[in-house]
Amino acid sequence: MKAARLGVIGLVVGVVGGAIVITGGCASEHEKRGHELYTHYCSDCHGESGKQNQGFNWSAMPDPKPKDLSNKSEMGTFKDEELFSTISRDMLDTSEEGGDPIGDDDFAVPTMPTFKYTLSEDEIWAIVGYVRTLHGMKMEYNVLARKTSLEEGLKATQTKFDQAKQAYEAAEKKASDEAERKSEQLKKDVDVDESAYAAEQAAMVQAKKELDSAQAALNNFSTRPGKGLSIPRPDLTVKPAEAAKLVDRGKRLYENKYGCNGCHNLDGEGGKIGPALDRAGFRLNATWIYRWLKNPQAMDAHTRMPALGLTDMDAKAVTMYVSTLRAAKAEPIAEKPVEKP
Ligand code: HEC
Ligand code: HEC
Repeated sequence: MKAARLGVIGLVVGVVGGAIVITGGCASEHEKRGHELYTHYCSDCHGESGKQNQGFNWSAMPDPKPKDLSNKSEMGTFKDEELFSTISRDMLDTSEEGGDPIGDDDFAVPTMPTFKYTLSEDEIWAIVGYVRTLHGMKMEYNVLARKTSLEEGLKATQTKFDQAKQAYEAAEKKASDEAERKSEQLKKDVDVDESAYAAEQAAMVQAKKELDSAQAALNNFSTRPGKGLSIPRPDLTVKPAEAAKLVDRGKRLYENKYGCNGCHNLDGEGGKIGPALDRAGFRLNATWIYRWLKNPQAMDAHTRMPALGLTDMDAKAVTMYVSTLRAAKAEPIAEKPVEKP
C-alpha cells in the first residue's frame, strides 16, 4: 500500500519548459532547487548558511545590514507566506518627502531586492523552503495544493468560457435566422437585431477575461515573468527644463526605492555585487541602460541583478541619473616610467 503510493509520487515530477517543476510530494528536489537559487541570488548578501558577515557583500552594504537568516528566534516569528511576500513584493519609495505611504506591516528596505519580476512563483517558494532550513525549520506551506488550485481555477474558467461562447453563438444564430426569415417574408433585406444577443456577447467577453487571468496566474507560477518579454525602445527625450528634476528623482529612486546602492559602489560607498558605477555615464548608452534596468535577464539570463519592477517613468529617471555618473578617471596606480634615451 505504502510502496504503491510512493511510486505514484515519484512519477509526477515532470519537466516543463526545460525547468524541473515539482508536481508531486518530492520535497527534496524542490529544496535542492531552492538551495541553488539561494546560492546564486541571496548568498552574496546573506551568506551561504544565512549568517551575518558571511556573504562577501555584507560588510560593504549600507545599513540595515542583511538579516541573519540562521537566527531561529527571530526568523521563526515569520510565517511562510510572509517570507514569500518579502521576497516577492513591489518596491516602495521610502523617501520622506514624496515617497510611498508605508504601513506598519509593510517591509520596505530598499537594499533587500525583490525577485517578483525575476523568478517564478514556484521558484520563490523553493527559496522559502530552503531559507526555512537555515534556521532549522520546515516550510509548512503546501506548494502542490497552490498549483492544483491554479490548475483547477483554469479548468473552471475554461468551462465557463466554453459555455458562454456556445450561448453567444446560439443567440447570434437565432437572431440572424430571424432576420433571414423576415427578409424572405418581406422580400427585402432586414438587419440582424444585435441587441438580441448583446447580453450573451458581454458575458462571453467577461468569461474570456477571467480565463486569461487564470492562465496568467498559472503561467506566473511556473514561468519566469521576464521570459520572452521584450522591452520596446524607450523615448528618452527630455525637455532641458525638466532634465535636472528627472535626474534628482532618479538619484532618489536609486537609493530610496530600488536600493541600487546595496549592490553597486559609487564614490567608494555601497555594495560590490555589481560593477562600480562611477563612470557608467561614459561607458553605457542611455537606451541600453533603460532596457537593462527593465529586464536584465533578457540580456543575460544568468545575471545576479534582479529585475526590480521599475515602472517606465522610474526607469527613465534612473537612466537619466546613471547617465550623469561621469567621475574623473582614477589616478593610474603605477605609471610606467618614461624611458629616457
Ligand atoms: C543586496 C543584498 C541582498 C540580497 C541579494 C538579498 N537580501 Fe535579503 N535582505 C537584505 C537586507 C538589507 C535586509 C533587511 C534587513 C533588516 O531589515 O534589518 C534583508 C532582509 C531579508 C529577510 C528578512 C525580511 C523581514 O521581514 O525582516 C529575508 C527573509 C531575506 N532578506 C531573504 C532573502 C532571500 C531569500 C534572498 C534571495 C532570493 C535575499 N534576501 C537577497 C539584503 C539582501
Ligand atoms: C542584487 C544586486 C543588484 C542590484 C539590486 C542592482 N544591480 Fe545592477 N548589476 C548587478 C550585477 C551583478 C551587474 C553585472 C552584470 C552581470 O555581469 O551580471 C549589474 C550591472 C549593472 C549595470 C551595467 C554596469 C556595467 O558597467 O556594465 C548597470 C548600469 C546597473 N547594474 C545599474 C543598476 C541600477 C540603476 C540598479 C537599481 C535600479 C541596480 N543596478 C540594481 C547587481 C545588482
